[in-house]
Amino acid sequence: MTENERTDVLLEAFAGKFGPGKRARVFFAPGRVNLIGEHTDYNGGHVFPCALTIGTYGAARRRKDRRLRLYSLNFPDSWVYETSLDRLGPGLPKGWASYPAGVIHTLREKGFAIDQGLDMAVWGDIPSGSGLSSSASLEVLTGALVRSLFGLSLTNRAMALICQESENRYNGVACGIMDQFACANGREGKALFLDTGSLSCTYVPLHLDGASLVIANTNKKHSLAQSAYNDRRQECQQALAAFQRVKNIHHLCDMSPAEFEQCKEAVADPILLRRARHAVYENARTIDALQALRAGDLKRFGQLMKESHISLSRDYQVTGPELDTLASQAWKIPGCIGSRMTGGGFGGCTVSIVENKAVSEFIDRVGRAYEKEIGKKADFYVMQAGGGPRQIK
Ligand code: GLA
Repeated sequence: MTENERTDVLLEAFAGKFGPGKRARVFFAPGRVNLIGEHTDYNGGHVFPCALTIGTYGAARRRKDRRLRLYSLNFPDSWVYETSLDRLGPGLPKGWASYPAGVIHTLREKGFAIDQGLDMAVWGDIPSGSGLSSSASLEVLTGALVRSLFGLSLTNRAMALICQESENRYNGVACGIMDQFACANGREGKALFLDTGSLSCTYVPLHLDGASLVIANTNKKHSLAQSAYNDRRQECQQALAAFQRVKNIHHLCDMSPAEFEQCKEAVADPILLRRARHAVYENARTIDALQALRAGDLKRFGQLMKESHISLSRDYQVTGPELDTLASQAWKIPGCIGSRMTGGGFGGCTVSIVENKAVSEFIDRVGRAYEKEIGKKADFYVMQAGGGPRQIK
């Protein structure tokens, strides 16, 4: 479906649910895929994501009263969530609508003048629960729409922080900054090398030279809130506290691998030590990956992706049989340059760099092996790096 067709369907649904009236504004905000640098963003390390060309479309207009009405075409049978600016609070209303509601509430808490309600219809083409940041995409979309409708003075960078805070406090997911930052600040054809400690960001052209980015979906939904994500964060906190007894650091990723090796006796618990080792070495790999991409050394980049997956599987333990099967089958394909899980883990997707001439063989062979081993189908998408939020109408 073209973007124009999508917009027409969205506007028609908007008019159907909310009636005629002033024209709605239409915006788009992307999803993201992380190339490398996983579970480093809440440890003060580096991440290397890019925004995608898939994401969430939304149409909205201001109301005269303080009501909020929210509708999603992804759940066409579901009702319109109705609430009011005065009745917002953590987790309300239930379900997907708590994400846009949370962003509006958090903006108001920060003192942004949003004194009227709005009607909003959204339609996303990111498979939900796939680890491609459908939530961050919806949050950033809400931020971009509300900023435009209420004339708020808000940079994309500040918006990313507000969306993260909203997800942390309103939705109870202790996520880092990577997803919201990548969705809010993506640039076409570029990956974004972000230092999550300082938020300094470098854009790097994603020149894949005859290769493509292939995303494979395990179709095992991950749920960050319910999964061990919050536990991993806590384990990292505990490991950090132990290191801080012998070393002056603010984050685990302040240590280089050599420094980690020198003072690892500080952590007695072997599980905590493995979590910390992943964070420290993953951060070093991400910095290496930047050099490799800049130098056009895709082979090295691919090797780092593989090491990243192995560390996420063995030390960080966030993969599981589905992701491990997709990655290990991918490594067997001659034209596959690199492959690893992407996002929070516990299901969701892998990201692979595959030579163009090998893409169909890759999809066929990995797909068949996955189905044989896991007993369900994987989905594959060939993706490009896309831009940040934008107005369509
Ligand atoms: C999720 C979180 C991010 C990040 C990744 C893991 O996507 O939202 O903040 O921690 O997991 O790298």
